[in-house]
Amino acid sequence: MSEGAGKAQEKRKVHAIKGVRDILPLETALWNRVEQTAHEVFATYGFGEIRLPILEHTHLFERTLGLESDVVSKEMYSILNREKEDHELWAWRDVASDWDVPVEDPNALDQFEDALERLLEGLDIKLSEDESFGGAVADSAVHALWEKLDELREARSKGVPPKDLETLIDTIRLKVACIREEELVLRPEATASVCRAYIEHGMHTLPGNVKLYYMGPMFRRERPQKGRYRQFYQIGAEVLSHTGDLKEDARVDAEVIEMLTTFFEKAGLEGTALYINSIGCKECRPKYVELLRTALTKVKDKLGPDSQRRIETNPLRVLDSKLESEQAIIEKLPRIAEHLCPDCLEEYTEVKKQLAMRGISYTQNFRLVRGLDYYMRTTFEITAPGLGSQNAVCGGGRYDGLVELLGGPPTKGIGFAIGTDRVILSLQEIRKLPVERALDVYVAWMGEKNYPAAMKIARRLREGGLAVELPPGEMKFGKALGLADKLGARYALIIGDDEVATKQFTVKRLEDGEQKKLGERELVAYLKAGEAP
Ligand code: HAM
Repeated sequence: MSEGAGKAQEKRKVHAIKGVRDILPLETALWNRVEQTAHEVFATYGFGEIRLPILEHTHLFERTLGLESDVVSKEMYSILNREKEDHELWAWRDVASDWDVPVEDPNALDQFEDALERLLEGLDIKLSEDESFGGAVADSAVHALWEKLDELREARSKGVPPKDLETLIDTIRLKVACIREEELVLRPEATASVCRAYIEHGMHTLPGNVKLYYMGPMFRRERPQKGRYRQFYQIGAEVLSHTGDLKEDARVDAEVIEMLTTFFEKAGLEGTALYINSIGCKECRPKYVELLRTALTKVKDKLGPDSQRRIETNPLRVLDSKLESEQAIIEKLPRIAEHLCPDCLEEYTEVKKQLAMRGISYTQNFRLVRGLDYYMRTTFEITAPGLGSQNAVCGGGRYDGLVELLGGPPTKGIGFAIGTDRVILSLQEIRKLPVERALDVYVAWMGEKNYPAAMKIARRLREGGLAVELPPGEMKFGKALGLADKLGARYALIIGDDEVATKQFTVKRLEDGEQKKLGERELVAYLKAGEAP
């Protein structure tokens, strides 16, 4: 290595990747408090904690959030779970799906059949050996392909026209391309995981509504900015049920929102605002979307390129637009609340009544459509001050039918996720929280021979539940007190020759310098309560 290169390497520092960050002890105290508040409040509403895996199959999110959603189409972190022995298998897959197959060439057709047969044989073995593999490569897909292979062979033996053969091969190639090697992602959210777990553990057989909450990191490749990270944290809760009429659903919705407002109150977050909407159901939403599309087409020329594209792909997302020039246009667009079917209208009206009954104030926001496909009817968001443009601290809504979509029984669902990073930021910005004094006692010991006594006292204080710092080395008195102060200790406990001899210890309150001489027995009580017993 040249000298220059060596120096460059020396200088190159390791650092965390873009959009992720470390949360350090001074801050984690606040994080723990917020999370603890969630544990306590959610328990009072009968929710139990579920700990979910961070890795899931890609298709779990593709099926639930929707292929068109930003999260699935561009933000997921995927990992190919490629095991060594799979190489051959996937090579056959690539051959069968990528190859151009000239149907007039019997040799090419033979090779195509051969590749397909080997792939299917390999998949059959994998499926029988490893149950979890079935998630990515569904049994039924492989079965269907075996049938297609038979069909192809029969067609060839009957000498069907090349055009028909071509169509059949195209269908097969498309199906093969859909069979993917096991692709995993770092979860971008957890509602889909909760539904997967609900099905996997047969939770529909549990009595009553199933109420679960979770907390932990989520991953989305978004453009990082204040309050927006690529690894961020959520505290979420979900209610899954298989009974109940519209009125009962509305009560569940309102109770979930009540739990949220209680949480924010207990966490000390001030100035939050609740926005609600109903986005209809599969009966009324498509009709509204068409209406919206027609209205948008009329003003197409005035819209930006993103919104112009969305007129075709997903007109609802135009309502999400932050473009200044589009705001006046959006205000004039048809609103879904005016086009709800009778059932959706009844539920929405009831939700508002239930919120009012609970004394929860809200603002209706017809533009609150949410970016994930699984929502229906009630949607809501909560904002908090001090966050700039990323001011949503919580998002949620109803997702009846999601469990069924994943192969479970008909199930209703409602839930939310709180962005923990943003809650912390808002608490810090708004309340200008003082740095918490995490350390109770700094043991300032002097004289090597007094270390064992200092160690014993430190242990006794720790047993009494106090946070104690016992420096490993001897220090001069003044320096020890200076360090105690810098560490934010509430007290300094002085242990020197006199103290050990008399068993009377000097305690100095660092806030005001008040000193007391106390015996070992009185120490814990005093240090905990701040008063001599
Ligand atoms: P979401 O609106 O995508 O919903 O996320 C919920 C909250 O997570 C947001 O309001 C925000 O506070 C926080 N959040 C999202 N992305 C980021 C980011 N990149 N950086 C920091 N915070 C972020 C969901 O995830 C749904 N699973 C919520 C839900 C549960 N719906 C029904 N049940």
